[in-house]
Amino acid sequence: MLWVKALHIIFVTSWFAGLFYLPRLFVNHAMVQDKTVKEHFEIMEHKLYNFMLPLAVLAIVFGLWLWLGFGITGIWLHTKLVLVAGLVAYHLYCGKLMRDFKSGKNTRSHIWYRWFNEIPVLILFAAVILVVVKPF
Ligand code: HEM
Repeated sequence: MLWVKALHIIFVTSWFAGLFYLPRLFVNHAMVQDKTVKEHFEIMEHKLYNFMLPLAVLAIVFGLWLWLGFGITGIWLHTKLVLVAGLVAYHLYCGKLMRDFKSGKNTRSHIWYRWFNEIPVLILFAAVILVVVKPF
């Protein structure tokens, strides 16, 4: 069980690296006008987004394995699963925003992206407190 938990934490951490960095690229991308620089951001965002998908899948697979394979559960876990659903929605919405940038349809400002970038931070705090402290 400890190997599964270790792998769960490794892939959760790696997934979050992408969830923190991709919106930060959007912040900078929304501030530039130069076409060459914009294209550079598009390549970086695309590569990072493709890299994040297997990390998200593995984080969730090992989490499900801990839950369904070892029977670890509780109200804390059900609450955490709601947050995880929010993270998956956030991940997929980043994909939509990335495609908007690529097709020149982005309408959001760098300030909007700065606030958007804070959402995974709040979810991380809540999810880790739920799973470690298990308040309910
Ligand atoms: C479908 C998704 C997920 C499921 C089913 C899941 C389930 C679990 C379970 C059952 C444990 C073991 C808890 C224990 O041993 O007391 C665990 C540990 C953990 N999970 Fe998740 N998890 C998921 C996603 C996540 C995400 C997205 C995060 C990060 C925000 C996360 C962070 C952690 C951490 C830090 C631990 C280790 C806690 C400890 O060792 O006390 N998990 N997870």
